[in-house]
Amino acid sequence: MSKVIFHQPQGAGSISQGGLADQSSDTAAPVLDTRRRPLRDLRISVTDRCNFRCTYCMPREVFGASYKFMPHSSLLSFEEITRIAGVAVGLGVQKIRLTGGEPLLRKNIEALVAMLAGLRTPEGRPVEITLTTNGTLLEKKALALKQAGLSRVSVSLDALEEPLFERMSDSQVSVETVLRGIDEAARVGLAPVKVNMVVRKGMNDGQIVPMASHFRRSGHILRFIEFMDVGTTNGWNMSEVLTGAQILERISEVFPLEPVAAGYSGEVAKRWRYTDQAGEIGLITSVSQPFCGDCTRGRLSPEGKFFLCLFAGQGHDLRALVRDPAAGDAQIAAALSGIWSRRDDHYSEQRGQETAGREKIEMSYIGG
Ligand code: GTP
Ligand code: 5AD
Ligand code: SF4
Ligand code: SF4
Repeated sequence: MSKVIFHQPQGAGSISQGGLADQSSDTAAPVLDTRRRPLRDLRISVTDRCNFRCTYCMPREVFGASYKFMPHSSLLSFEEITRIAGVAVGLGVQKIRLTGGEPLLRKNIEALVAMLAGLRTPEGRPVEITLTTNGTLLEKKALALKQAGLSRVSVSLDALEEPLFERMSDSQVSVETVLRGIDEAARVGLAPVKVNMVVRKGMNDGQIVPMASHFRRSGHILRFIEFMDVGTTNGWNMSEVLTGAQILERISEVFPLEPVAAGYSGEVAKRWRYTDQAGEIGLITSVSQPFCGDCTRGRLSPEGKFFLCLFAGQGHDLRALVRDPAAGDAQIAAALSGIWSRRDDHYSEQRGQETAGREKIEMSYIGG
């Protein structure tokens, strides 16, 4: 990786023009947005395709046989992704998450993991590489991913009851397949495995307690995610949201819980543990208790657009820059830090009248 040039933040709302200084030392200040949030996490979506059609993410009426996914030629290559990620690491990124669509559908994804695992922070530390998957290909891929340098996985699973799972994922894949993927991931050391359950009231909320019961004492961490208004195609309605507090109430009636302090600043999930030492769970409350205040997540789309929020309408194209033979890493760093320093996004805190009718990207394109 060539030397990276750091942007010195120039105060709230500043635009980084000519604000670059070559200071590839350990003491370079992180780039901050207008709300003084650093860029710490990079979520990289490697494909907009998925073999599921979860009703809350890729409803088949929209993502049917005639839906035009991105052609392969538009996608960033692994080298291009790694170059952008390396520059972002130079600007303060410490965690990289691969996502999609379904990231394991991208051919030879373990090669990308290996390339990203070679990155080092300016202090010389490796970067944590994680991946979010629906689990269908995980049993087959877990060992290769671990050997390539992946740290952990988060696996989506919305129900244990077979017909309900099929209905929610709108697929023929069995729950067993996903459970085998989860166990294999843990076996090879991609642990702790986090299991993400999106709760849609009236659809799978009856599975909250069975899921809690199933994953107690498994060593895996089950997280309940409030149904969110991501994208514009999932027919989101507040009446279908069961809040984190309501979810917690249902579980504690059966298995008493106590709070656990956050593992790190800006942690997405609120942590709770069973009082009988059977493990912990998480609640992701983007709707009822937004966590934009310390959101340090930037997102890279499959074709190289940099998005500042899960609910953004537009991204900033980086592909043209990485494909410009005249542009070096310093220019990519200047572009990234300039974009980040102007960031003001805090959608979940604004949700309501103010955000109604806004253009929003789809989760299947930008990832979780
Ligand atoms: P780790 O703590 O490293 O395991 O990561 P994480 O808790 O961020 O886990 P993960 O990436 O699996 O995120 C879980 C889910 O939280 C995602 O699938 C999203 O549904 C939701 N989520 C993650 N980041 C954001 C965010 O920035 N905004 C909102 N609104 N939701 C988010
Ligand atoms: N609301 C909440 N979570 C969602 N996910 C996808 N769409 C939504 C939504 N509308 C979750 C998936 C998976 C991750 C990629 O994002 O269940 O865990
Ligand atoms: Fe695919 Fe994940 Fe979206 Fe379901 S939530 S359709 S598994 S990308
Ligand atoms: Fe971050 Fe946007 Fe999610 Fe808020 S809504 S936590 S700013 S991604």
